[in-house]
Amino acid sequence: MAKNIAILGSTGSIGKQTLEVARNLNIEVSGLTANTNIALLEEQAREFRPKMIAVGSEELACKLEKRLKGLGIQVVYGTEGISRVASIDSVDTVVSSIVGIAGLLPTLEAIKHGKNIALANKETLVTAGELVVKEAQEKGAKILPIDSEHSAVFQCIEGNRPNDVKSIILTASGGPFRGKSVDELEHVSVQEALKHPNWKMGKKITIDSATLMNKGLEVIEAKWLFGVSEDKIQVVIHPQSAIHSMVEYVDGVIIAQLAAPDMRIAIQYALTYPERLSNNFSRLDLLKVGEMTFESPDYKTFPCLKLAIEALKTGGTMPTVLNAVNEVAVSMFLEGKIGFMEIPRIIEEIMGRHKVNTRPSLDDIIEVDIWAREEVMSLKRNIRRYGLCRYY
Ligand SMILES: NC(=O)c1ccc[n+]([C@@H]2O[C@H](COP(=O)([O-])OP(=O)(O)OC[C@H]3O[C@@H](n4cnc5c(N)ncnc54)[C@H](OP(=O)(O)O)[C@@H]3O)[C@@H](O)[C@H]2O)c1
Repeated sequence: MAKNIAILGSTGSIGKQTLEVARNLNIEVSGLTANTNIALLEEQAREFRPKMIAVGSEELACKLEKRLKGLGIQVVYGTEGISRVASIDSVDTVVSSIVGIAGLLPTLEAIKHGKNIALANKETLVTAGELVVKEAQEKGAKILPIDSEHSAVFQCIEGNRPNDVKSIILTASGGPFRGKSVDELEHVSVQEALKHPNWKMGKKITIDSATLMNKGLEVIEAKWLFGVSEDKIQVVIHPQSAIHSMVEYVDGVIIAQLAAPDMRIAIQYALTYPERLSNNFSRLDLLKVGEMTFESPDYKTFPCLKLAIEALKTGGTMPTVLNAVNEVAVSMFLEGKIGFMEIPRIIEEIMGRHKVNTRPSLDDIIEVDIWAREEVMSLKRNIRRYGLCRYY
């Protein structure tokens, strides 16, 4: 069980819920990080009195340092600062809950220092899964999943032999647009896309859930976390979100994990593993769930899921391209600059332009991430010039 943690991205949805869990369990919090939200970071620092905190820029760090003067909290900044928080000596577990590829380098730094990782930042495994898993094995660092689906699989797989696993079945709620057609999705608003039926999360993952890219990223995450090939990972739409995922075994048995849709349950398990401790979080009332249904994903209306599976099959740097373009396209959608269905179109276009490096180093991955973002920017300039026509 974790005794002393650092939380990367403590001001986000997962970060705040992790602090609730830490407060309940009296876990010491030695490090916190944010990008720009220094008001909330200050509040958290005053309550938890960490040794070190980090923010995105030097300017914000100076402001925060003045506000926290006399409390003995070291304030650092930038990727290097966040990486310092990720490697504080007294910390045994680093909660990786920054959104996007910005989480990769600090998470790797934590692993290099032998910390266990409670992993929410799926982008770390999507972009550099092979390197991250190898490094964790070499340093003896455990990667404990926070993503509810992977936490579920982790719990269903415990105590069984890897060779007996026939398939991993990831469930998906289907998001707010389940059952809609491509035409209906062309003009959906940002507000509609942000209305997830079952979960309250940060904006990026909420849009990813609406496009089903989130499930695609989770398929890639599952491959690296559980060491299975992509043909053994299946996605099933389960709108009630009662079953968080399942594992099918060679003898025909399927083991499922059920819980209320409350991320604090998965966060707590990642921090208390292998123990289970009681809490006052939401409980699943099976009688209220009533019926549980399952259906196939609609790959035509939600091409992002297909693109992610294709990127995984291609391997090498393709998932990095998928992730980078998705990050930029989602923020363009959130800013009202492109329509919802342009997200997969832009991703497909840039993936088509990419020459894959099959055995990338970390530097190659960073370079490809930058390349893919620049490609979207050049598309964006054309979008501005020519409007949202589908010239690509
Ligand atoms: N939310 C969920 O229920 C959930 C479930 C499963 C998995 N996840 C995964 O967990 C991760 C976090 O999701 P979230 O929903 O908690 O996101 P979020 O609410 O948007 O929070 C993101 C956190 O990352 C920080 N951050 C953003 N950009 C940064 C950058 N460039 N450099 C350093 N820090 C940065 C933010 O700081 P500021 O507040 O200062 O901007 C904030 O603390 C994602 O990878 C997501 O896929 C989330």
